[in-house]
Amino acid sequence: MKLKHSFEKWLTRKGSVRDETDGGLRPPSLPAPSKAKQRKRTMTKEAQPIIWRTGKKVTLRPHREEDLSTYQRWINDPEINRYLMVTWPMHEGGQRAWLEKTCLSDPDDISVAIWTTEETPRLIGNTSLALDIRKQSATTGTLIGSTDDHSKGYATDAKMLLLDYAFNGRGMRKVTSPILSPNGASQAYATKCGYRHMATIEQEHWRDGRWIDEVRYVVFREEWLPLWEEYKKDL
Ligand SMILES: CC(C)(COP(=O)(O)OP(=O)(O)OC[C@H]1O[C@@H](n2cnc3c(N)ncnc32)[C@H](O)[C@@H]1OP(=O)(O)O)[C@@H](O)C(=O)NCCC(=O)NCCS
Repeated sequence: MKLKHSFEKWLTRKGSVRDETDGGLRPPSLPAPSKAKQRKRTMTKEAQPIIWRTGKKVTLRPHREEDLSTYQRWINDPEINRYLMVTWPMHEGGQRAWLEKTCLSDPDDISVAIWTTEETPRLIGNTSLALDIRKQSATTGTLIGSTDDHSKGYATDAKMLLLDYAFNGRGMRKVTSPILSPNGASQAYATKCGYRHMATIEQEHWRDGRWIDEVRYVVFREEWLPLWEEYKKDL
């Protein structure tokens, strides 16, 4: 007790600040814990959300039954599904079948929810990763459900976490992404995550009254690793 007291006195002399979430003193050289971390510390374990991976702006979480209708709303929204492969009406039964399939925990076909790390976290999208173990190759797909949440770096952060899992967690050699050519945002965020254009498949999809190209983007493990080394520094 006496030892603790004098240590605290020494820390105070060094300009340390009391960290309310810890109830202890934190040297000024250590950054204050993020709001999300502070909140987590004050919650009981049972009240904490189930989080699979944590990034800079988002967390990836397992799907929940109550999110089914949100996913259904997003996938039926023409602004969101315009450049997705699924453009037909998604009924509750179809959405449920997708959720049940993904929740069966096929280790080679995974999907997770994307939540913000704001003070009050919000469910903003979902992302998937399909692994071909024989080829050591995977494909990914992401959806951010509201245009209000676009261009804020959420998909980039989610994809970097998923690529970490694909390359470092599952030993994949390469990850590819099929993208409809007018989807500029998708190509832009893939590029930010280290992907590059690999091929163009001409006139592959019918959209808005015309045939449009599909572009295939690819990132190889050895190309991505240096990017990850930088990225993970401020995780
Ligand atoms: C594609 C999608 C997942 C991107 O998500 P996001 O969270 O907005 O992505 P990010 O913010 O991480 O990155 C998007 C980048 O694209 C840029 N961008 C946005 N619209 C663009 C366009 N039309 N052309 C070129 N770049 C564009 C943004 O400025 C941003 O780059 P910056 O950070 O350098 O400014 C999101 O737009 C979406 O869910 N769209 C609907 C579903 C979909 O098409 N999914 C992809 C299927 S392949």
